[in-house]
Amino acid sequence: MTPPEGTTIRRADEGDASRIASIHVRSKRVAYRAFMPDGYVDTLDQDEHRLNRWQPYFAAGIPENRAWIAFVRGIPAGFVALERIRQPDTAPAGYLHLHHLHIAPEFRGRGIGQALLDTAVEDARSQGTAGLALWTQAGNGEARAFYERAGWQPDGAERGQQYRWEGGEFTMDDVRYVRSLD
Ligand SMILES: CC(C)(COP(=O)(O)OP(=O)(O)OC[C@H]1O[C@@H](n2cnc3c(N)ncnc32)[C@H](O)[C@@H]1OP(=O)(O)O)[C@@H](O)C(=O)NCCC(=O)NCCS
Repeated sequence: MTPPEGTTIRRADEGDASRIASIHVRSKRVAYRAFMPDGYVDTLDQDEHRLNRWQPYFAAGIPENRAWIAFVRGIPAGFVALERIRQPDTAPAGYLHLHHLHIAPEFRGRGIGQALLDTAVEDARSQGTAGLALWTQAGNGEARAFYERAGWQPDGAERGQQYRWEGGEFTMDDVRYVRSLD
């Protein structure tokens, strides 16, 4: 599927922290409701994501932290972010972590997710990275179908992630997908 006419993708930088936080929260608020409690999803906050996640991500200046943002006729439509491996069990040796891929709800299903994924994969390959690994929620059937269609495979690694908000707490099982770049 070709993205809509007028779609552009460029490297993101700290000036995009607000745009990315906005897409990130709007995407999660729609997609995660299918498998996470409404009470938790309702607490997701754009300013918190900007201040605690995206500004530090860019400010850290880590070479492996590379992100791209897609626009459709100038409107921010999605982003993808690679990240340095912070814990050894995140990914196989020599792999990079594909940490986030989100398309704004109004732009889903138009080929933008695939275009961003291709951009990150090609960048990692050009850097000589052995492969990419990502984690997604076991219950995130839509994302899993998307990655599997794109040639990613679960490698059997699993982990439980704990989430807390003022209304309670819950645990989600995550599964790891990998893609070799050999
Ligand atoms: C998953 C996501 C990134 C896919 O992006 P998208 O732009 O909607 O997907 P695209 O339009 O690029 O689809 C590319 C291909 O995947 C397929 N695809 C997309 N979503 C799919 C789904 N839910 N089930 C099956 N196939 C799917 C499309 O049919 C298309 O295949 P085609 O070219 O053969 O027609 C996007 O829907 C999203 O942001 N979801 C919510 C956030 C999320 O869960 N992110 C992953 C967290 S790890």
